[in-house]
Amino acid sequence: MHRNADMDWDAFDPAQYVAHNYASLRRDDQRLITLTRDWFAFAGLPTAAARGLDVGTGSNLYPALAMLPHCRDVTLWEYSRSNIAWLETEVAAYSRHWDAGWGVLAESPGYRDLGDPRFELARRARIVQGSVYGLPAATWDLGTMFFVAESISQVFGEFRAAVTAFASALKPGAPFAAAFVENSEGYAVAGKSYPAVAVTRAMVRDALVGLTDGLTVERIEPIGEKFRDGYTGLLLACGRIGREGGAEPC
Ligand SMILES: C[S@@+](CC[C@H](N)C(=O)[O-])C[C@H]1O[C@@H](n2cnc3c(N)ncnc32)[C@H](O)[C@@H]1O
Repeated sequence: MHRNADMDWDAFDPAQYVAHNYASLRRDDQRLITLTRDWFAFAGLPTAAARGLDVGTGSNLYPALAMLPHCRDVTLWEYSRSNIAWLETEVAAYSRHWDAGWGVLAESPGYRDLGDPRFELARRARIVQGSVYGLPAATWDLGTMFFVAESISQVFGEFRAAVTAFASALKPGAPFAAAFVENSEGYAVAGKSYPAVAVTRAMVRDALVGLTDGLTVERIEPIGEKFRDGYTGLLLACGRIGREGGAEPC
């Protein structure tokens, strides 16, 4: 059983991770980006007024880009020093392959009207080195966490603790989007193995329902190439952080 603390996260290779997952836009990621965009648009956030949080950003800019028009700043809270170094370079002027994901976001007016997303990400992003388990409470107005809680440990309790820490870092009423790989058996990056908890839709719902209001957990069928062992689809949980201990899902 690999715990989060057992892994050498500073040896994580962001370039290889990007090459495997994000060099071109996967159709399941396209669906994930579309659903996240539409949820944040529906949530009715005051444009550019909020403070956003993306946990475990690693080398994926899509969650931060999905929050960009809604936030005056976006904190990228990442644990691995190699990923922090990658973010510092990439956020300053991001690579062209992220344009495909921005194109999906920009089908919606709030994104299209933002101006130059490269300039706005560089201006609004705040990169912070820290652990999900050390997030401060009730600090951010909007949040994302993609492929982190289930992809940093094999211990179920650590998956649950990461979900709780993410939800607790957001203010009551804050909209969030959290993505999970369904049934992942772990993954390799540049020949190194990384752990996962094989979560199901019911496990994700159970981890979030008591902390949130209006929870939905959408399942995205596998589309295209299987990118991880065990992968049976993606899960996207959307809702708002509970004001009074959360409510039943709709
Ligand atoms: C599977 S990657 C996901 C990266 C990215 N969010 C994505 O959507 O592809 C898991 C990420 O969690 C980070 N991570 C590992 N342990 C962490 C911790 N304790 N707190 C925050 N992030 C952590 C890793 O460095 C890596 O960037």
